[in-house]
Amino acid sequence: MEQLFVSSSTQETQAIAAELAAKLESGTTICLYGDLAAGKTTFTQGLATVFGFTRLVSPTFLIMREYPVSHHHTIKTLYHLDLYRLNSVEEIKAFDVEEIWSDPTNLLVIEWPEKFVDILPKKRIDIFFKATTENQREIRFLTH
Ligand SMILES: Nc1ncnc2c1ncn2[C@@H]1O[C@H](COP(=O)(O)OP(=O)(O)OP(=O)(O)O)[C@@H](O)[C@H]1O
Ligand SMILES: [Mg+2]
Repeated sequence: MEQLFVSSSTQETQAIAAELAAKLESGTTICLYGDLAAGKTTFTQGLATVFGFTRLVSPTFLIMREYPVSHHHTIKTLYHLDLYRLNSVEEIKAFDVEEIWSDPTNLLVIEWPEKFVDILPKKRIDIFFKATTENQREIRFLTH
């Protein structure tokens, strides 16, 4: 299924993310594609608010950040992974990603998944970000 949103502000992008988070099925991995500054981390911040986190920052240098979720019926841990700096499948496997996405109590959000499309889980939502003007983003959801 494909869905297209047009966002005119960071707040709107975060609201679209929060709406998705509220109706997520457990065991779904979220993959965020798009250029630098397209809005992937901004979107993840909106999603994280639903799980009680208002200060999520980009995991770029750490690669992965983990957030324990305390008040959700199915999701116990939110993982935010940024693959920008990784170059091989071995490197990403070292972060135990397969174990993380196989556990339905985890919600895994991945920035820069395009390098590793072959190993991504089947149960995922692909989200493509495109900057059309300084403050406008096209956000395309593709549910598998
Ligand atoms: N409609 C919008 N939606 C999202 N971000 C927007 C929008 N309009 C402007 N911006 C700005 O664009 C930037 C998006 O940065 P963000 O860190 O979310 O991008 P990113 O895709 O995670 O980049 P990177 O690949 O470097 O991690 C922010 O500075 C944000 O304020
Ligand atoms: Mg980012």
